[in-house]
Amino acid sequence: MLRTHTCGELRLSDASTTVTLSGWVQTIRDKGGVLWIDLRDRYGITQLILEEGVTAADLFATARTLGREFVLQATGQVVERKSKNPNILTGDVEVRVSALTVLNPAKLPPFLIEDETDGGDDLRMKYRYLDLRRNPVRQNLELRHRMAQQTRLYMDGQQFIEVETPVLIKSTPEGARDFVVPSRMNPGEFYALPQSPQTFKQLLMVSGFDRYYQIVKCFRDEDLRADRQPEFTQIDCEMSFVEQEDILQMFEGLVRHLFKTVKGIDLASVPRMTYADAMRLYGSDKPDTRFGMEFTELKAVRGSGTVDTVDLTSGKGFGVFDSAEIVVGINAPGCASYTRKQLDELTEWIKRPQIGAKGLIYVRYNEDGSLKSSVDKFYTESELKAWADRFGAKPGDLMLLISGDAAKARKQLNELRLEMGTRLGLRDPNVFSTLWVLDFPLLEYGEEEERWFAMHHPFTSPKPEDIPLLETDPGAVRANAYDLVINGTEVGGGSIRIFNRDLQARMFSLLGFSDEEAKAQFGFLMDAFEFGAPPHGGIAFGFDRLCSLFGGADSIRDFIAFPKNNSGRDVMIDSPSTIADKQLDELKIRTVV
Ligand code: AMO
Repeated sequence: MLRTHTCGELRLSDASTTVTLSGWVQTIRDKGGVLWIDLRDRYGITQLILEEGVTAADLFATARTLGREFVLQATGQVVERKSKNPNILTGDVEVRVSALTVLNPAKLPPFLIEDETDGGDDLRMKYRYLDLRRNPVRQNLELRHRMAQQTRLYMDGQQFIEVETPVLIKSTPEGARDFVVPSRMNPGEFYALPQSPQTFKQLLMVSGFDRYYQIVKCFRDEDLRADRQPEFTQIDCEMSFVEQEDILQMFEGLVRHLFKTVKGIDLASVPRMTYADAMRLYGSDKPDTRFGMEFTELKAVRGSGTVDTVDLTSGKGFGVFDSAEIVVGINAPGCASYTRKQLDELTEWIKRPQIGAKGLIYVRYNEDGSLKSSVDKFYTESELKAWADRFGAKPGDLMLLISGDAAKARKQLNELRLEMGTRLGLRDPNVFSTLWVLDFPLLEYGEEEERWFAMHHPFTSPKPEDIPLLETDPGAVRANAYDLVINGTEVGGGSIRIFNRDLQARMFSLLGFSDEEAKAQFGFLMDAFEFGAPPHGGIAFGFDRLCSLFGGADSIRDFIAFPKNNSGRDVMIDSPSTIADKQLDELKIRTVV
C-alpha cells in the first residue's frame, strides 16, 4: 500500500508515530518559513507541515513547486498542532513531512474542488470526475450506496431473490418511447432497451420464483426534467400469491427500514388516500402532504370529481363564476396582509403559459374580521363570510380562488398551492411526509389518439367489482394500482397484475390492439398465463428519486455518478455521437442519399 493511514484517520493519540499518507493537494499555504499542505482523500483532510531549517532544504524546495490537485505521497511524524482546527476530525494534529513523492502532477483544475465551487453546471459536467472529488457530490453517492445496501439487506431478509433480466429486449409499453439497438446479426431488426423489466418479472412469477427484486437500470426516451433521466434505476419488485394489502405492507416495511437505517428516522405508518380524493383535495395524484391548504369548492356539481354539489357563487352577476364548472380555492393562513402588488404578482405568475389560469380571485379576511375581495362588486360581505366559513378561514387569512373547467382549474390550483407552500416555507426538505395513493383509474382517454390508454400499464388488473364496467364505462373502472408519494414526488408505483389470458386479451383489445398485434407483441406473456400463472403483483421504486429525497435535493442528477444533461447528452464522453460508416454498413442501417 502507498499509505499507512487515510487522510481522515489521524488523531492526537497517533502523535509521535511515523505515517505515510497519499492523496491530493487541496491547498498550500506558504508563510515564508513555513509551508502547510492540506492533503485530501475520500476520508478527509490532513495537514502536512514543512519548516525551513527543520525540513531538509531540497524537500522544502520541492514542496514549493507543488500545485493544487497534485497527487502526493508524504511520510512524516504525527505531531500535535499549535492552533487546532475543531471543524475537522484530524484537526488536532499535523504531519511533519520527512519524505515527499509526487505520484502525479496535475494541471490546474478548471474549477475549485471545494464544497462551494466556482464551476458552473456545464463545466462541472464536462469534468464530472473532478466534480466527484468534491465532498457534497461524493457524499450523495455514498448515501446512494448505503440505500442500495440497506435495500438488499431488507429484501434478502424477506426472502426476495435478486435476478438479473436482459437489457436487449423487445418493447415494453410503459408509456415512453423506447431506445433501440440495431441487431447486426438480424439486419433490419432492433432490440429495445427495457423501460422496466415488467414482463420478465411477471414471467419469473410464472416460473415460481415467488419473490423477486432487482436494482436495475431502465431506459426511457422522454423529455427530461429535474426528476427524470433517460437511464435511471429502479428497485423493481414482484411477489406471488398476494393482494394489494400485502404489497403495501411489505414495501411500507422497506421504506420504513430505509428511513430508520439511513436517516435514523422512525417513520409513522404511511397514510392512504384514493386517487379521487387526491385529485379533489390537491388537484394532483402526487400531493405534497407536508402542509395542508387542501382545496375548498365554492361551486361544484357532484360527479365531476366532487362529493357534494355546492354553489355559493352563482346568480350574483359575476359571469366568470356563473359560467364556470367549478369555483375552487385554497386558504393561505396568515396571508391577509399580502399587498396589492404581491397579489398582482401572484396573478401574473398563475397566468403564465406554463400554468395558464385566466385569473385569480382573492378574498382577504382581515384581522378586524372584515372581508375584502377582488369581486366586491358582486358579493356582499355576508356572502364572503359564508365562503370563509366553508374554507374554515380565520381572520388574518387569504383565500385564493380559481374557476373554470374542473380538471384544468384543479391542475392550476395545484401549482398555486405548491407555490404558496414554498413561499410560506412549508416545504422543508428535512421533513418527510409519505402517502399511498390508491385506486387509480385503469384507463385514461387520449383525446388526440381517440382511444383508451392504460394509466399504469396494460398488465394492471381492474378491481374485480369494476370488471363489468370495462365495456360500458371504461373510464370509471378503477385499477388495483398504487403509488407511493413522498413530499409530492412519485417515488414508486405498482399494481396487482392480470394473470388470466382472457382478461389480458380483453385489456389489449380495449387498448386498441388487434388480436394479431397483441399476439405479436405479448404472445409470450399470454401463452405463459396458460401454464399455471399464480396471482401476483408488485411495485417499482425510482431509486434515484428516493436517494435525492433522502439527500434533501430536488434534482436526481446529483445522485447519479455520470448523469446526462437536459438534452440527454453526456458532455464528458460526448455522447451520443455519430458512428463510422463501416459500423453503419455492418448494421445495414446506412441511408443512401
Ligand atoms: P413506473 O413507470 O411508475 O412503473 O416507474 C416506477 C418508478 O420509477 C421512477 N421513474 C423515473 N425515475 C427517474 N427518471 C425517469 N425517467 C423515471 N421514470 C420513472 C418513478 C416511478 O414511480 N413496471 C412498473 C412498476 C410496476 O408496475 O411494478 C413501472 O416501471 O419514481
